[in-house]
Amino acid sequence: MNELGRLEDLPADYREALTQLNLVPLWPSLRAVLPPGKPRPNTQPTFWSYEALRPLLMRAGELTPMEKAERRVLVLANPGHGLENMKASAAIYLGMQLLLPGEWAPAHRHTPNAVRMIVEGEGAYTTVDGEKCPMRRGDLILTPTGLWHEHGHDGTEPVVWLDVLDLPVVYYLEASYAIEGRRQAVKPERGDVVYARGGIVPTPVFARSGKAYPMLRYPWVEARAALVALAADQPDLATVQVSYVNPETGGDALNILGFHALMLRPGQTLRLPVRSPASVFHLIEGGITAEVEGQTFPLAEAATCCAPGYTAVTLRNRHADQPAFVFVADEAPLHKKLGLFEVRD
Ligand SMILES: [Fe+2]
Repeated sequence: MNELGRLEDLPADYREALTQLNLVPLWPSLRAVLPPGKPRPNTQPTFWSYEALRPLLMRAGELTPMEKAERRVLVLANPGHGLENMKASAAIYLGMQLLLPGEWAPAHRHTPNAVRMIVEGEGAYTTVDGEKCPMRRGDLILTPTGLWHEHGHDGTEPVVWLDVLDLPVVYYLEASYAIEGRRQAVKPERGDVVYARGGIVPTPVFARSGKAYPMLRYPWVEARAALVALAADQPDLATVQVSYVNPETGGDALNILGFHALMLRPGQTLRLPVRSPASVFHLIEGGITAEVEGQTFPLAEAATCCAPGYTAVTLRNRHADQPAFVFVADEAPLHKKLGLFEVRD
C-alpha cells in the first residue's frame, strides 16, 4: 500500500484557502479512516475488579446522598476512549450503581436502552413501565428506550447492580435525552411469570401480545437452570450458551446491544470466535480467567472486563470441580442491523 501525501506537504496558502471554505483534503486522513484489513479500535482490553471497586462505591454512598446523585454510579470507563467519555466500547456504557436501604431513585425515561445485571443485595426493585421487577443476584432487568423506570429498596443491605447501556452510540447520534416523571402506579402484570415456560406464550382470546418489550425481567434462576439443562442434555457441546431474547419474536431482547449467558464446564477452556462487535464479560458465579489480545484478566465473582471487536477471547474456568457462569453483553444486534457483522474464524 503506497504512502499518501501528508497535510504538511501542501502549501500553507492552499491549506488556509481550504479551511476558509470549510473544505478538507481526504488523502492525508484516508488510511486512518479506512485502515487496511482490520479496524484500529480505541477500545482497549480492560478489567475492573469488583473487590477493588466495591469500597469506592460504598464510599460514594457516604459522600453523596441520593438527592445529589439521582443515580449513584461509578462508570467503568475504557481508558482507550478517554475516561471522561464514559465508554466501555464504541457502543457500550457500563456503570456500577449503589442503592442503599430506604432509598428511591426517581422515575424517568430516556432514549438510550439500559439493562441491569444485579450484583449483590436483596430487597430492591425496579419498576419498569408499571411492572415491579424484584432484583436478585444475576437477574437481568430491561429498561428499553422510552419506558418509565425507577428504583426502590425495602431491604436492609446495600444493593449493587451493573448497568449496561447503549448510551455512547445514542449520544453519538445526538439522540440522547431524558424526561423526569412522577412515581409510577404498579400494575399487576408480570412478564417474567407469564413467559416463564419456553415455547408457551399468553394468548388471551387467541391474540399475541403487541408489546415491543413483553418481558422485562429475566430471573437468574431460570437462565442458570437453562444452562445446566443444556450442558446435561449435550455433554459434548463446547459452548454452553443461552441468549436473552424477546419471547414473542425470538429476536434480540433489545435493538442495539445483545445479552447472553455462558456456562463453562469444570476446568473448561473456551476460545470464542473472532467477531466484529466488542463484548463485555461479567462473572456471575465461579472463578475464570479471560485472555484478550495477550492480556490475562483474573475474574472473581462480580468482576467485569471488555474486549474490542475483531479480537479472539479465551475464557478459562479456573476450578476443576465446579462450573462458572458468565454474563455477556455485545454490540452484535447493532452490527447486524448495519450489515457490518463479521465472524473471522
Ligand atoms: Fe435510567
